[in-house]
Amino acid sequence: MWQPVRASVGDRDLSLCELSTAGGLEDLLPGSGAWEVELGFGKGKYLLKRAQESLERRFLGIEVVSKYSRMLVGRARRRGLENLVVFRGEAVFLMSAALPQAFAEAVHVYFPDPWPKSRHHKRRLFDPERIDLVLGLLKPGGRLFFATDFLAYGEKVQNILAGHPALDLEVIDDPWPEGARTNYEAKYILEGRPILRLVATVDAAFPPPYFHPDGASGLLAAQAPRVGD
Ligand SMILES: C[S@@+](CC[C@H](N)C(=O)[O-])C[C@H]1O[C@@H](n2cnc3c(N)ncnc32)[C@H](O)[C@@H]1O
Repeated sequence: MWQPVRASVGDRDLSLCELSTAGGLEDLLPGSGAWEVELGFGKGKYLLKRAQESLERRFLGIEVVSKYSRMLVGRARRRGLENLVVFRGEAVFLMSAALPQAFAEAVHVYFPDPWPKSRHHKRRLFDPERIDLVLGLLKPGGRLFFATDFLAYGEKVQNILAGHPALDLEVIDDPWPEGARTNYEAKYILEGRPILRLVATVDAAFPPPYFHPDGASGLLAAQAPRVGD
């Protein structure tokens, strides 16, 4: 699918073409602050709060829905925030085509769309075939933060992460110390729904790429047939 992308930082809006001719993220937001990324930020509550509280850090948010993306950009501009880049675009596309590797200290994914119908599972962000894209954003030692109320998907994500040789996985039994991070989390806590929270740390000694053993074998199988086979 053709994907228009808009990158917004400070008062600037750029298209994907302008972005790729520029020096990427470091040109958009120069500095030495550690990067944190949120995929599918929705109304952007968590990113806005973190960017305001941690002016010395740099934040990148990716959201496919224009309305939500515009909402966060508007709020960041009204507050004069200069440490936040917002990409309106599809996360898998951006991770595979536009984002650098191994630049972030943390990646946050809260309540990703679970795509419950089996024919839609291929749209899931967490899948052995593409987990290397999400993990590839992380520096060695970087951490992935994840939460969901859709426990069947959560269990799959937990198994995918637990089965990855580059990761050390922790199941977080209590709510985050600061309380609900996102709008969905606040709503589900009020409703009393159980929430699965995970933190996965990339082993600093494990060399990228971070192909999953189950995904990489699928890729090799897909490459194996030759003409005439
Ligand atoms: C269930 S909402 C959760 C929003 C927010 N993280 C929260 O916890 O309140 C999932 C969000 O992810 C976004 N999203 C889903 N798939 C995406 C993708 N492939 N790329 C970017 N954003 C995506 C949706 O547009 C939606 O805003």
